[in-house]
Amino acid sequence: MALHPDPYRAVDRQPDPLRMVESLEARGRTPTQIRLRRRFLAFAEIEPGGKVLEVGSGTGVVCRDVASLVGPRGAVLGVDASRVFVREARRLAREHGVGSRVRFEVGDGAHLRFRDGVFDATLAITVLLHVPDADNLLKEMIRVTRPGGSVGVQDQDFGTLALDHPDRPLTQRIFDGVARTIYADPWSGRTLRRKLRSLGLESVRLLTDVYQDTTLEPWSRTFVQRRAENAVKFKLISERQADRWLAAIEARARAGTFLLTLNFYGVVGVKPPGPAR
Ligand SMILES: C[S@@+](CC[C@H](N)C(=O)[O-])C[C@H]1O[C@@H](n2cnc3c(N)ncnc32)[C@H](O)[C@@H]1O
Repeated sequence: MALHPDPYRAVDRQPDPLRMVESLEARGRTPTQIRLRRRFLAFAEIEPGGKVLEVGSGTGVVCRDVASLVGPRGAVLGVDASRVFVREARRLAREHGVGSRVRFEVGDGAHLRFRDGVFDATLAITVLLHVPDADNLLKEMIRVTRPGGSVGVQDQDFGTLALDHPDRPLTQRIFDGVARTIYADPWSGRTLRRKLRSLGLESVRLLTDVYQDTTLEPWSRTFVQRRAENAVKFKLISERQADRWLAAIEARARAGTFLLTLNFYGVVGVKPPGPAR
């Protein structure tokens, strides 16, 4: 079967899943991303002693932070569709000294093996935009959360991606064309509040945050390079156009005038007593 253009739909079938491990870890280390992630986890009010599930845990960047928040009396479980990511997440958790507090297992977020209501909180961070059945995944997260527990989701919204580039039409063609081809919903972020409310969660709260980069951080550089590569692969632009587009970005960085921003929408809702719709 042909591979879907979104590599996160089938990590283990990609030519180089370890490159994706490095990319997620590089994102996780980027100072603005650390702030963004930790602000969202604070907003989600993860409690010491809590039992937390992260769906789509990747290499475990979020789970490692959650382990510190729940402390030694808590428990953190990451579920991910990729065997490679789960293996690497276990290794990285040991390396970061939280191996005994976080567990990872392979699974599909839309079909969780857990009984109803066993977690105090469930999270999915930059996952829903990659899945074709976001509502099924959310329903499963809600099912396994205890009544009174919380469900928290955070996604970028590629409709808010802004890059100050001298060639605006080319930038639009690359960003819109690639996002439309890859993601189930490139504008997922702004839909999350509505989705959680329509699935019956209560006290739904929104935290909009911004990834802001003015120095062309390694993660942003990789991001624009992949966008250019994909735009060529999807026949949106020529190789020469891609090179010219990237060169202008590097020139802005050298001149100290680079600017890229992207909104992240984080939403938290509470599971009501009784069966949630
Ligand atoms: C962009 S990564 C995010 C990883 C992590 N949450 C983070 O923020 O670092 C998206 C993850 O979702 C996983 N994923 C995609 N579809 C999934 C599904 N149906 N069930 C479980 N995981 C899934 C991918 O394997 C990948 O690890």
